[in-house]
Amino acid sequence: MRRKTKILVVDDEFSIRISLGDLLRRDGHQVDVAENADAALLMLKTQSFDLLIVDIKMPGMDGLEMLKQVKEDDAEAPVVMMTAYGSIDSAVKAMKLGAIDYVVKPFDPLEIGMLIERILKNQIMRREHQLLKHQMKTCGSYGPMIGRSPAMLKLFELVEDVSTTDSVVLIAGESGTGKEVLARAIHDQSARAEGLFVGVNFGAFTESLLESELFGYEKGAFTGAAGSKQGLLDAAGGGTLFLDEIGDASPKMQIDLLRVLQERKFRRVGGVKDIETDFRVLAATNRDLEQAIEAGAFRQDLYYRLNVVQIHIPPLRERQDDIPALAEHLLEKLRLRLNKKTHSISPEAMQLLLNHNWPGNVRELENAIERALVVGKQKQVMPADLPIALYKPEEVPADESLDAWEREHILRRLKHYHWNISQTAQALKIDRGTLYTKIKKYGLSREP
Ligand SMILES: Nc1ncnc2c1ncn2[C@@H]1O[C@H](COP(=O)(O)OP(=O)(O)OP(=O)(O)O)[C@@H](O)[C@H]1O
Ligand SMILES: [Mg+2]
Repeated sequence: MRRKTKILVVDDEFSIRISLGDLLRRDGHQVDVAENADAALLMLKTQSFDLLIVDIKMPGMDGLEMLKQVKEDDAEAPVVMMTAYGSIDSAVKAMKLGAIDYVVKPFDPLEIGMLIERILKNQIMRREHQLLKHQMKTCGSYGPMIGRSPAMLKLFELVEDVSTTDSVVLIAGESGTGKEVLARAIHDQSARAEGLFVGVNFGAFTESLLESELFGYEKGAFTGAAGSKQGLLDAAGGGTLFLDEIGDASPKMQIDLLRVLQERKFRRVGGVKDIETDFRVLAATNRDLEQAIEAGAFRQDLYYRLNVVQIHIPPLRERQDDIPALAEHLLEKLRLRLNKKTHSISPEAMQLLLNHNWPGNVRELENAIERALVVGKQKQVMPADLPIALYKPEEVPADESLDAWEREHILRRLKHYHWNISQTAQALKIDRGTLYTKIKKYGLSREP
């Protein structure tokens, strides 16, 4: 449960201190009062408050002067001003001095209750977001998402910015890069976190099934529709609708979605009345939608609706820095699920994980770790526990010479870096000239 918020009301008028105090206490807050600015400032020396509500016009030090002093001491201090009808200009001054908001006396209890709720909620969110930003930088994670490569840290910042908005976000990335975890993270950090996160996968179902799932249906809409049924669009009201694999949506489905996105209204299958809903839309694709548009497989107008903010998750091979942290995170997660004693990854196995190029991205890494846990017999994941794509048992080579080993090693690294000479040379810790010489010496060439 949330602790009681502490509010300080500062007003020279007795009746205001009483009525506002009662009102706020009824809303579950803890309230202290002060009859002038000096008394209030004295209280602030020894106590902290979540919110100050300060009258502007008071004998002695006025509210504006008090606001100044409070802000000098703590620039973040949340202060709401009270002002009499007709003196809005001083309220404007107060806002410039850093007040969060102002209320005009006489006030409507309901209105002030709502205002306070909103301010307190914003403050909690702001604090959480600060915490999160801190966590992002120091721990290399964003909620359940792990990432400490520069690319992911940058991505987390962008995610953090969009999570507090209601914008449509299109998440692009190869299969297994973590599009769905990202969508969930955005939902969990948003003001809609208490609503549902409703995912629809356009690659997984037939058109008619999707239609009735998404829109729901009325009784008798088709054979077998014995009663009416709510659709996922209804369920997503107040929450987030996640359109997964949107690139796979059929042409008809694309038109239907366009209407929903434009009008925020839809009809059940077999229904005649429009139903309005309020949900935030996130979409994901592993296809290049612009290419799909050119090929005539995806509607441009729908693309514009979806592509308000685009977040591209880079493939795992482009963010090697994330591999150790991800591998350990997945090991921990799966170890508990599979009830295994293996608790770490041997340096040799980690090296293999780092060398692999992960066409299946994080999902492939997850599968590799799972396999290692299932077959492994030791406390550490060993190279031999890893899938064959990563670990090829050592055959005794026909040619045991050092040159043969060197040739093989260089060739592997070249392949890994897609024959990027600078990167390969850097990884091998030799200069590019030396690498060229060796390529020539061993007659290495790129396979077509
Ligand atoms: N950054 C990450 N931190 C922790 N776990 C991750 C991360 N990225 C991906 N995963 C895990 O990898 C798996 C695949 O992620 P997810 O299903 O989100 O990928 P996807 O991009 O939606 O894939 P697909 O295109 O195949 O649907 C999940 O089990 C997810 O928990
Ligand atoms: Mg997915």
